[in-house]
Amino acid sequence: MRLRLGAKFTLILSLVFICGILASWVAFSSLLQEHAEREMTARASALIETMNSVRHYTTTQINPLLQDELAASPEFISETVPAYSAREVFEQLRTHPEYAEFFYKEASDNPTNPRDLADSFEGALLAQFREQPDQTLLSGFTQRGGVEVYYNARPLRVSAESCLSCHSSPETAPESLLTTYGLDSGFGWNVGDTIAAQIIYVPAAEVIGNAQSWVTLTMVVVIVIFAVVLLLMNFLLRRMVIKPIEKIATTARKISEDVNWTPDAADVVTVGKMAERSDEIGETAQVFAKMTREVYDREQKLKQEVRRLEIQIDHAKREREVKQITETDYFQQLQSKAKNMRDQQETKSLQEGDLRPNEG
Ligand code: HEC
Repeated sequence: MRLRLGAKFTLILSLVFICGILASWVAFSSLLQEHAEREMTARASALIETMNSVRHYTTTQINPLLQDELAASPEFISETVPAYSAREVFEQLRTHPEYAEFFYKEASDNPTNPRDLADSFEGALLAQFREQPDQTLLSGFTQRGGVEVYYNARPLRVSAESCLSCHSSPETAPESLLTTYGLDSGFGWNVGDTIAAQIIYVPAAEVIGNAQSWVTLTMVVVIVIFAVVLLLMNFLLRRMVIKPIEKIATTARKISEDVNWTPDAADVVTVGKMAERSDEIGETAQVFAKMTREVYDREQKLKQEVRRLEIQIDHAKREREVKQITETDYFQQLQSKAKNMRDQQETKSLQEGDLRPNEG
């Protein structure tokens, strides 16, 4: 395939750019996906910390305040429970559209409220937190109710003796708690036990969609930059390389075809001006200009030489023609005839002289 320099360059650059765009798409996709996950983890962490602060507030400030009422009241006072306040605050948060899709759960394998019972997936997370006490965060994607979700889980430990007033055994728990929640579950906890996994679920679409829109935006920017670079390179290549080369080539062609060219011809002068450039094109133009001068000088010399030779040839030709004439028989005869006549003339005049003795 025969391609012009510009087309070749465009083709190569386009190929490079397409590869570059694909490579950056792959790189950005995973990078931005990672970034989106990290950002979601940071948000979830902040939320869990907030929930823990709410829990702490309830434990240290609300619970002591309502201690006496709780003991006396026949009805359980939910406001004394840290888990309750955390859940209530989170429900309030979910009324905000940005958090409507978030879901918070304190999943336990021995819960006070059966609603908090850990399913098999949450049970596995809890088991992992128990096996690895250093593990403070587990996150990733999972299916939940047929929907792909991103989860962020942290271990929840029994942090204070005060928790045990409700969670150690039915005997020490308030009457009203037993009547509301029963005796079967939510007891037998000890300080330091990991009794639940605090989990925040977010629809995966939210995380992936977020990453996707970043990837799209980034790719648009990359493609625009690539396109601008491609156009600019093409323009500069045409202006700085192709055009000058074409000029030199057409000038060379003209010189080779036109017998009467001179170094003052407009084309030759233009190329000569290019020699002022300090780059490779300038060097080429310099060499070209030098070459044209030398070619011109040589041509002039050759012309002179030819003229001289022509004159010489003319001389030689004339001589040869003269020789040819003088060598013909007719000329020879003429010559010998002329000689005879001259000889006769001489003898005649000699004889006449003899006849006139002692004269003068
Ligand atoms: C006044 C009694 C009381 C105290 C004190 C208390 N809890 Fe609870 N806890 C409950 C009740 C009742 C529930 C169930 C609330 C609900 O309906 O969601 C509960 C729920 C929980 C849950 C959610 C899982 C489950 O069992 O349903 C966790 C985890 C938990 N409590 C941990 C703690 C910790 C840790 C402390 C100490 C900082 C504490 N609780 C102090 C009564 C108490």
